Amino acid sequence: MTHKTILVTNALPYANGPIHLGHMLEHIQSDIYVRFKRALGDTVYYVCGDDCHGTPVMIKAASRGITPEELLKEASASHRADLAGFLINYDNFYATHTPENQEISSMMYLKAREHGYIKTETISQLFDPKEQMFLPDRFVKGTCPRCGAKDQYGDNCEVCGATYAPTELKDAYSTVSGAKPVLKESLHYFFDLPKAHDFLYDFIRNSGVLQSETINKLEEWFKQGLKMWDISRDAPYFGFKIPDTEDKFFYVWMDAPIGYFASLKNYCSTHNLNYDDFVKPDSKVEMYHFIGKDILYFHSLFWPATLMASDQRLPTKIFVHGYVTVNGAKMSKSKGTFIKAETFLKYQKAESLRYYFASKLTSAVVDVDLSLDDYMAKVNSDIVGKVVNLASRTAGFIHKRFGGRLSSKSYAPEVLGKIAEVKTPIIEAYDSRNYAEAIRLIMGLADEANRYIDRMAPWSLAKIEGEDEKLHEVCSDGINLFRALITYLAPVLPELAGKASDFLNDPLSLEQVTKPLCDHEIKPFKPLYQRIEKSQIDAMIEASKEDLKDQQSHNQKNQSAEDKPSEYEPLAPEITIDDFVKVDLRVGTIVEAQEVPEARKLLRLKVDLGFTVRQVFAGIKQVYTDPQALVGRKVVMVANLKPRQMKFGLSEGMVTAAGAGVPDIYLLSVDSGAKNGDRVH
Ligand code: 2FM
Ligand code: ZN
Repeated sequence: MTHKTILVTNALPYANGPIHLGHMLEHIQSDIYVRFKRALGDTVYYVCGDDCHGTPVMIKAASRGITPEELLKEASASHRADLAGFLINYDNFYATHTPENQEISSMMYLKAREHGYIKTETISQLFDPKEQMFLPDRFVKGTCPRCGAKDQYGDNCEVCGATYAPTELKDAYSTVSGAKPVLKESLHYFFDLPKAHDFLYDFIRNSGVLQSETINKLEEWFKQGLKMWDISRDAPYFGFKIPDTEDKFFYVWMDAPIGYFASLKNYCSTHNLNYDDFVKPDSKVEMYHFIGKDILYFHSLFWPATLMASDQRLPTKIFVHGYVTVNGAKMSKSKGTFIKAETFLKYQKAESLRYYFASKLTSAVVDVDLSLDDYMAKVNSDIVGKVVNLASRTAGFIHKRFGGRLSSKSYAPEVLGKIAEVKTPIIEAYDSRNYAEAIRLIMGLADEANRYIDRMAPWSLAKIEGEDEKLHEVCSDGINLFRALITYLAPVLPELAGKASDFLNDPLSLEQVTKPLCDHEIKPFKPLYQRIEKSQIDAMIEASKEDLKDQQSHNQKNQSAEDKPSEYEPLAPEITIDDFVKVDLRVGTIVEAQEVPEARKLLRLKVDLGFTVRQVFAGIKQVYTDPQALVGRKVVMVANLKPRQMKFGLSEGMVTAAGAGVPDIYLLSVDSGAKNGDRVH
């Protein structure tokens, strides 16, 4: 088999926030993949780093009275510690605010400009006159123009779900200074994405870079039309200055993926590697990006287009995964299920989460639920009860009775033969990122191994005179089966594999896995893994709620406008029945649901009201993360709301939901029997 050289990347975490379990799904997924590929003999370079630029970092640093650079240093230290804690084995964890990234970003921009991909246009935007800065949508708040709810963000009302331009907000204020924003014109720089249309269409359909389900998603985006991409931001902005400008900066998403190259270049410079060999258009090195579904647009359209426009190599594979949910719901700070990596590591072993995620990950773009009871049961039953137990049941006899030496032959070669039978399917499962299947096969082998030991009952053999040889061989078989299980699990459980390798006096190589250890000395067995106790999980949830309290008091000190009021929303003024009947609520069925790629919060829904089908833009994307799951669902809709022209199309009604806003948004349902078009009285 020919060996490959591969560059593997993870999405760069934002420097202004902590690493949480949502990030860990991807880092664990790619780390397992890298370890597996290396075990097969491929050469893998694995890079990541912090995504440093943008307004949030600038504002957070200012609110703490430190420089952005100081904030980055803190973030880098804590991100590195968290990722190392989860045994994520990067070759380099770097950052986007670095000389390498500035150099590559400028070079790529200039090349793209030379090839005619950069355009300029003057646009109007909200501007904070006090802070003298343009305001991204999330830094403007005001009263919802539709329902009158106060303190709503600049693009969407979390109370009624309306979407609007920030200029439509009533009593708008800047969350940075509190000042009333004004409209101001400014020259912006755009990347001409429509010019790359044909290249992108071909790249997406024919290059084999993407999973088929993501190709369908991209087709929808193509149908909606590619738009010019605004890549500049005005000063003050924490980022790189655009070449040949005085006060224009690259938008954070322009230089973020270039950070992959910066991290690689930095690594090459200290490891005697030629960076150009990795990035030239005909490079033999394969490049795999692991990303979440929320940043598919950036990685499958903007990133390849900017690479092509600047004569750089293209990605070989883009592996997209879903989100993490906890106990079946979006991670929630108030429920204590928004769990930071650091908090998790205080109460749990990293490998338990690695194992659990692995047992659920496939190559499909679906959300992965961390069901905490199931997590505890699975780790305790599989790792402790099936794998480690196999060694603990047999190693004692090897030491007490046979001087710590394994027998020179096997008692049941046919049982050991199972190790070889599953090898190729396990390798294929890992290789296709179907870790769930790999774990299923490995646990199948573990079950067979334990059944064999149960059948042979070494504890009984030990009491029978003249059965020494059989006891020795059976226990040695147990140890060899344990060795195979750990070898197969090593990409998922590297620390346990390290301890087992020491205990077995063996390097645990995939190549040698089918050749049992014979007449071989092992070390005394020590407990290798501890059971998870329910009390540890409860403590972790409590601590995550504490994290939220700390965050809230910190925000209050800094007068941040980001935290939501926790009390109930005050009752609206009394109305009569005549007022109520003015609102025509109807039962409908969602027949289509799609993300609006360029809106943070919006789903485009088509709702069948029986007598008509309506298009509605609902601000529920952050909570209902799998739009397809909504198709077929019955909802209650405000059907006589005046249609509104949104940036993305006409919204012809409103779908009703309860809750105070993200993550607490709950669509209303209707009992079975109600038909589309039925009025709600
Ligand atoms: O979505 C995010 O968390 C971004 N910081 C990911 C950037 S990935 C890459 F392009 F840098
Ligand atoms: Zn509203």
